[in-house]
Amino acid sequence: MASQPTPSQQHSTTGEAGGAVVSGALDLDLLGPRISRHVYGHFAEHLGRCIYGGFFVGEDSGIPNEGGIRLDVVEALRALDIPNLRWPGGCFADDYHWRDGIGPREKRPRMVNSHWGDVVEDNSFGTHEFMHLCELLGAEPYVSGNVGSGTPREMSEWVEYLTRGDDSPMASLRRANGRDEPWAVRFWGLGNEPWGCGGNMRAEHYADLARQFGTYARDHGTNELYRIAAGAADDDYRWTQVLMEGLGRRLGTRGPHRGHGLSVYQAVSFHYYTVPGPWEHKGSATEFETDDYYRTMVEAQRIEELLAGHAAVMDAYDPEKRVGLVLDEWGTWFDVEPGTNPGFLFQQNTLRDALVASVHFDAFHRHADRLVMANIAQTVNVLQAMLLTDGGTLVRTPSYHAFEMSKGHQDAQVLPLVLRSPAPALDVDGTPLRTFSASASAKDGRALVSLTNLDADRPVDVELDLRGAGVGTPSARILTADSLARHNTADEPDAVVPQAFSGARVEGGALRLELPAHSFVTVELPLQA
Ligand code: AHR
Repeated sequence: MASQPTPSQQHSTTGEAGGAVVSGALDLDLLGPRISRHVYGHFAEHLGRCIYGGFFVGEDSGIPNEGGIRLDVVEALRALDIPNLRWPGGCFADDYHWRDGIGPREKRPRMVNSHWGDVVEDNSFGTHEFMHLCELLGAEPYVSGNVGSGTPREMSEWVEYLTRGDDSPMASLRRANGRDEPWAVRFWGLGNEPWGCGGNMRAEHYADLARQFGTYARDHGTNELYRIAAGAADDDYRWTQVLMEGLGRRLGTRGPHRGHGLSVYQAVSFHYYTVPGPWEHKGSATEFETDDYYRTMVEAQRIEELLAGHAAVMDAYDPEKRVGLVLDEWGTWFDVEPGTNPGFLFQQNTLRDALVASVHFDAFHRHADRLVMANIAQTVNVLQAMLLTDGGTLVRTPSYHAFEMSKGHQDAQVLPLVLRSPAPALDVDGTPLRTFSASASAKDGRALVSLTNLDADRPVDVELDLRGAGVGTPSARILTADSLARHNTADEPDAVVPQAFSGARVEGGALRLELPAHSFVTVELPLQA
């Protein structure tokens, strides 16, 4: 058992209600880097009920669909302004052979999904279905190519099939399968987790393969690929270093002549999951104590250190930040729900998950100068899902609402938010947990401030001096519940939903509010010219 967390007095002042007091300043006219909308990206793998049952039910289903794609799911995700969707994996990507997923469905070969439940995959959801889904969502596709068990030719032809406009062999094949115009596909992954399920490779070997596969994944017509080399697990900074070395003198350059001045990849990725316990006993998604919650939050806050660590390695090779950092898998990973297939990674989603998300968003904003994309794992029915489906029912999770409340940060510019003293902290098994997290951005004449109080029991009084611009009346929303384990179900779909929050006010040139225990608040401030 972990020792019960205790407040670290050196870091906090106590307010009237017994909670901490945080004061600082927010500069409204110092516009920092733009927050790529793609850090609010998503991930859908052929895993459990993410694709089948989640996104795709088939045209004959009684669930309203277009071409087999669930329209309730599409509608819910459109409300998040979902910017991109990564597919088909994950580990599945390095077993996937794209030609198995085109042409008449009844003729598509089957395969075994060895990684996830050892189930038979009938390939009824393939390239055309995925591109149709992206069109319905208004999201950019991010296709993960197969490096682990595929060939450079296979990947090269997939790019040609998707993006080439003339009568080349692959463009003609696409037309024969019913799609005349090429699609625009910018984001292209060169394999997935090559240090593990993607081939158990050493970094040096993979870096060479990334160069090789990246060379043959070609730009066609006006479609310019943004190739993403599959990166490190967690804090494996050496992996990032080897990938940066792999770019060598080609770093970030592009040129008209393939093979000369060609940048073989434009970004490197890494994966980080919030896992509160040992792998064998990660803990329940819904049955947890306060110390389990705090341990989860310590793991969630590690994202800050990891982003800084990978960015520092990249800075040494690329001070101009031409190479992007991509966190193409992140989120909570708990034990599966009792009675469900262990290979399907189905877990419920509570207010705790939403706070994990808000802490990540703040870190993403602070690293907006390097982080170009992040993808929550995974969008429907798997791990930290936005949506849970069961037959025809659809439930929006607390994490969904955290994404929705934060969508105003997409493509906004970071505003500096500085605290006068370190954020209040708790000691969790010897590790400090900062219980207050915040970030802000500006776009279209208004500022959006995100504030999270991680303290399970106590409120926090916040006072932020507003500098650089006048503001109008604030409007705020809050996501909280009577317990951290509260979650939404088909019977109670709105147990955890954002509510209007009247506790934010601007007084004496400062934004003041009392954040209740375990809450996430967003405040919108109209900026006056
Ligand atoms: O998201 C589930 C799995 O986690 C992915 O398939 C893999 O890339 C990672 O290990």
